[in-house]
Amino acid sequence: MTVSPPRLVPHHPALQVVGQPVPRPDAPDKVKGTARYVDDLAFNGQLHARVLRSPHARARIARIETAEAEKMAGVHAVLTAKDIPGQNLIPMIKSDWLLLADGEVCHAGEPLALVAAETRAQADAALAALRVVYEPLEPVLTIEDAFDRGDVHTHWKVLRGDVDAAFADPSLVVFEATYRTPYQEHAYLETNGVIATPDGCGGIVVYGSLQCPFYVQKAVGAVLGLPLNLVRIVQLATGGGFGGKEDAPSSPGALCALLAWKTGRPVKYIMSREEDMVAMSKRHPGKIRYKTAATRDGIIKAVEVDYFLNGGAYTTLSPVVLWRGLIHACGPYRVENARVNAWAVRTNTVPCGAFRGFGEPQVVFASEAHVDHMAEKLGLDPLAMRRANMLDYGDVTVTGHPLESSVGFREVVDRVTEAAEFERKRREYDAQDPTSPVRRGIGLAVTYYGVGLGALGKHLNPAGANVVVAADGTVTLAVGTTEIGQGMLTVLSQIAAEELGCAVTAVRVVEPDTSRVPDSGPTVASRTTLMSGNAVRDGCRQIKARMHEALAQAGHDVSLLSFTDAVREATGLCVQLSAQGWSVPPKTTFDTDTGEGHPYVTYTWSANTVEVEVDTRTGEVRPIKVVSGHDVGKMINPQTGEGQIEGGVVQGLGYGLVEEHLLREGRILNHQFSTYIIPTPMDAPEIVPIIVEHAYPWGPYGAKGLGETPLIGVAPAVVNAIAHALRGAVKSRDALYAGLREIPATPERVWEAWRTANAE
Ligand code: MOS
Repeated sequence: MTVSPPRLVPHHPALQVVGQPVPRPDAPDKVKGTARYVDDLAFNGQLHARVLRSPHARARIARIETAEAEKMAGVHAVLTAKDIPGQNLIPMIKSDWLLLADGEVCHAGEPLALVAAETRAQADAALAALRVVYEPLEPVLTIEDAFDRGDVHTHWKVLRGDVDAAFADPSLVVFEATYRTPYQEHAYLETNGVIATPDGCGGIVVYGSLQCPFYVQKAVGAVLGLPLNLVRIVQLATGGGFGGKEDAPSSPGALCALLAWKTGRPVKYIMSREEDMVAMSKRHPGKIRYKTAATRDGIIKAVEVDYFLNGGAYTTLSPVVLWRGLIHACGPYRVENARVNAWAVRTNTVPCGAFRGFGEPQVVFASEAHVDHMAEKLGLDPLAMRRANMLDYGDVTVTGHPLESSVGFREVVDRVTEAAEFERKRREYDAQDPTSPVRRGIGLAVTYYGVGLGALGKHLNPAGANVVVAADGTVTLAVGTTEIGQGMLTVLSQIAAEELGCAVTAVRVVEPDTSRVPDSGPTVASRTTLMSGNAVRDGCRQIKARMHEALAQAGHDVSLLSFTDAVREATGLCVQLSAQGWSVPPKTTFDTDTGEGHPYVTYTWSANTVEVEVDTRTGEVRPIKVVSGHDVGKMINPQTGEGQIEGGVVQGLGYGLVEEHLLREGRILNHQFSTYIIPTPMDAPEIVPIIVEHAYPWGPYGAKGLGETPLIGVAPAVVNAIAHALRGAVKSRDALYAGLREIPATPERVWEAWRTANAE
């Protein structure tokens, strides 16, 4: 292994705005309640939509009786699949996702009929008057059933070296275990909602709470049979997404557009919380069989993983969610021999989709819990075992990607474990009185995250930005990515101000509108700072170059002019002070036979420690302190960055400790916040964010991505902490670890693991 010196932050001697904790421009209105969300808007003559959804996981639709509803007061339309003018299809990776069930329903919550009426009450009454005759069919509900039946729609693999030779090597310790992860609800504050209206000149406009307006544009175009230039999608202030508004809003967006198209009226469709929780996408439940071979001193020699995701009734984004898990399944370690197989299965359950981490949190829970159990078996310290295997400059990933730049992993792990006093606390808690019923522990998990869409999403990779400088020196940016709470408006304003040399308060980012910018791909995969950031830079640089050249030719010393004065002079010289920026990332590759390639342009490196207190009498776990560190390349705004870390940590604690959906016959039972429990600020422990900056040369000022990484390693770190808290007071440590292979680690599960580990 050759270790090249770390490349640190490139020398930006005079950064004025980038790196500063600039306040969010959208914060005051959001805090005061004056921001305009979709349900704050109303159009003249607006109708209200309701959607009839299947109560059955699987059934034949014998008939839908609409006559009574059609006659009711205020009702303008009752529509079923036969009323769709274009295709009954939401285009996504595969063409299998129906807009409205036709002949058969495939999951509980699937839409099969629509109503538009003058008031919400009239729409409710019309919905209640619809009669559907179903012939229930036997549903397929579990990963195991679907796999046995061959209902697999995606299979990916990574094959490297010779795992069988390693597993047969008697000098190595081989260990295998199976892990399970639950559904997770996005729990955005604002449910899905849209308003669709004919535009009065042959087209349609949809306004909504969205992550990816260009996805909705394609869905509406397909369903109405319209060319894309007649379909305009505008994103409004959006109360959270977390992946849940990536693919999912294409359904309410196209349903509402269909009603608007058929009635010729504006139609508003706001989903109730119950409807949203039953019918919209979630994090895929996962099952992961994990097998490793390691030397007695903890060097990992081989990893074999079988990774299964329950994709639900339609393919939606499952192939790419699964692929991200595949690529990261062996952890951020040097693994010379690997066999990873990943399958997404089709069942009669709600289609799952994007959720912060996108297929990584499931497999990372397994891999990082596995490393701790392996370390325990080998009698090694879990930090030392990770240090002995972790990737560094000059190493090659499991897919054969050489790591040449921006690998601040060692620094992240060092700084996080120092800030957490990891080793001292391990010793302190190891020395706890074994009879004490309330016990403390500290756990660690380390992760990496390929930034952006990677080799599988190549065609969606580029991003555009329109930059317009007005005569008064103010700047308007239009981009194709969205603000969903993560801080995009702030970060892009800072980048524009830095490039142009203007005040950050002079920059305004307008709402994304598909008619105003080129398709810039989705706002996902922690790609917005990188992709839209580079597009904004490109546009600003074009303007600045033109402006400076014209001013110099006219005899001005540009260095003596303020930005406002320079703009005034340049305006007088008829200089074009607008430009379209464009960014296309470096090449990525993936060989579908071997899994070999450079799947992502670069990686964000992370480490998390979680300290917990466990009450062995009840199984209750209280997180005390979390240290969450990330090599982000360059932190554009430390305040929004810390916000991302705090939010990701709390969402990760929810995933690891409390959140799960319970289903009966394929129906989600807990579809309200009174029964689907998420952590609140009252449950948040002390959170210490750590930022490390090993610049990524292609990134804006060296930046990579941070959106998803803070969530990914939290669940294994908290479960490893629980095991650490209990392991000094059980008869069988093996039984303890075995009892902690399923999240969430609810009091029931923790108590059961404790009880089993102490049984004779
Ligand atoms: Mo994000 S889960 O890639 O929308």
